[in-house]
Amino acid sequence: MCGITGYVGGRANSVRLTLDSLKRLEYRGYDSAGVAVVKPGEAQVTVLKKKGKLGNLEAALDGLDRSGGTVIAHTRWATHGRPNDVNAHPHSDCSGRIALIHNGIIENYIGLKQTLTEAGHIFKSDTDTEVLAHLIESHLNSAGSLEGAVRAALSEVTGAYAICVVSTEEPDTIYAAKTASPLIIGLGEGENFLASDIPAVMGYTRNVLVLEDGDFAKITPEGVTLTTLSGHPLNREVFHVTWDVSTAQKGGYPHFMIKEIYDQPQAIRDTLRGRITETHGVAFPELTLPTSKLVDFNRIVIVACGTAYNAGLVGKNFYEHLLRRPVEVQVASEFRYNDPIVDAQTLAIIISQSGETADTLAALREAKIKGATTLAVVNVVGSSIAREADEVLYTYAGPEICVASTKAYVTQLIGLYLLGLYIAQEENKLGPGVVAAYVEQLQNLPEQVAEILTDTSAVQDAAKQLASSSSFFFLGRGFDYAAAQEGALKLKEVSYIHAEAYAAGELKHGPLALVEPGVTVVCLATQSALYDKIQSSVKEVKARDGTALGIVKIGDEGLNENFVDMVLRVPSTHDTFMPVLAIIPMQLLAYYIASELGREIDQPRNLAKSVTVE
Ligand code: G6P
Repeated sequence: MCGITGYVGGRANSVRLTLDSLKRLEYRGYDSAGVAVVKPGEAQVTVLKKKGKLGNLEAALDGLDRSGGTVIAHTRWATHGRPNDVNAHPHSDCSGRIALIHNGIIENYIGLKQTLTEAGHIFKSDTDTEVLAHLIESHLNSAGSLEGAVRAALSEVTGAYAICVVSTEEPDTIYAAKTASPLIIGLGEGENFLASDIPAVMGYTRNVLVLEDGDFAKITPEGVTLTTLSGHPLNREVFHVTWDVSTAQKGGYPHFMIKEIYDQPQAIRDTLRGRITETHGVAFPELTLPTSKLVDFNRIVIVACGTAYNAGLVGKNFYEHLLRRPVEVQVASEFRYNDPIVDAQTLAIIISQSGETADTLAALREAKIKGATTLAVVNVVGSSIAREADEVLYTYAGPEICVASTKAYVTQLIGLYLLGLYIAQEENKLGPGVVAAYVEQLQNLPEQVAEILTDTSAVQDAAKQLASSSSFFFLGRGFDYAAAQEGALKLKEVSYIHAEAYAAGELKHGPLALVEPGVTVVCLATQSALYDKIQSSVKEVKARDGTALGIVKIGDEGLNENFVDMVLRVPSTHDTFMPVLAIIPMQLLAYYIASELGREIDQPRNLAKSVTVE
């Protein structure tokens, strides 16, 4: 998400160096930037931060870039608090003697902030990060050292973090630690570098230490001391980078699409983070809507475009199944002109990765005018849709760079599932333990997605055989049909092969006329109750010499290689959550077919990441 860089050593241009390094991370996207500089003998750490691009920060440097000193610098991708100067990092304690930068989410920041405020600490920003600066300050006396205070503070926080701390106490030192967010140290001669990603340091060194979860580092110009958070010494092997910068920006992957597919386990974890209670309930501290109102809507309307619309289709099935309430999903560009049935008893759920899609924004405004309560499921904090909706539920996919959406889709599904479970929990109409049983299965999804991604050889083989197909149909019933729509969209976006999703039962009402050799039919069969039905669709395809590819649960043999030409298997979860797992082989199939065909992949022809015109 955010970009981190840091420097300890003797260069006079250390500020410029860390900002140049941040530019190598610009591809990740950000909304504000900041820098902290500390030199021996100074009473306070100098902190400068600006909303917008790095150029805004550079324009305000006013000689700071020639000062030398120990530096930490940051580009922020907002999660808590809007993008503005104050919420930008670094954040400082009350005394101004400590400054830190952070990538991740501090889950328990609300409670910590309250305790620290009661103890007299003054907060300036709306961020979760600022809590860490004050927490370290609060431990300084009792811990007896800056290092002890940083360790003590970190042992109190839960969540995800990569942090770098500087202080006037030890002006030649950066303390760094990580859990769940990336952090690397570049090793130089008489100087060392810190960054959230390898490309940032490649201009200065190719020897790096890749920190692992729970690592704590003390970095000075002379060296790096690695320990666990509790102080046990650690040894990590030095990694010599042989990649070029463009490969390094993609984490070693050839394209952002495949990198983002592999980001998905973490993106799901980040979206679940802080929203699951110890008793497997759902918590949404960010929602301001009173429970009485939330459970009172008699109608739910979901509005979105593209992939976000496809996520909405899964949401509809889930809400109708769980809440037994009518749910409608509308393409945003149609919504306004369809004279939608929306009133004060309607909850309008607006889904958007960017939060800027013009049609979706227009639909949100229309729903508000008609009196609906609007709730946005959005990835980009502070975006137009996030600002204008009555309620916002953020997904934490991080910046998505490939035009074809992957991790945004699965996190939208997670957000929608959580919201449905939250409403069900507050409504209290389901039997005891029902919500908890769902939540337990939700929590297993990151590992199950990771399991699919550990061996992709079957998908790669299928892609080689299918890349010459003239056309694809994706068939499924129920939740499989909803997932099939996203599978077809992925394939057409990146491979340029015609692909369409159909409710499996509709095959014989039209598309069957098109099935012939060279046409591939992807049959999703992950819904236990609908297994037999999808088998008959497969028979219809095979009888016309079409190629059939099955997507099934591991252990289900009803659609094995005796029935279909190839099978891709995924782990099992509750039927309603199967789209999260079923989409992974379809994303991979789209990616590997596009690779076989030599397509652009990250920037498909004619498409844009964010469509801000109607
Ligand atoms: C464009 C993108 C899609 C995206 C859609 C909606 O078509 O290429 O990937 O799903 O817009 O975008 P949003 O940002 O509103 O989710």
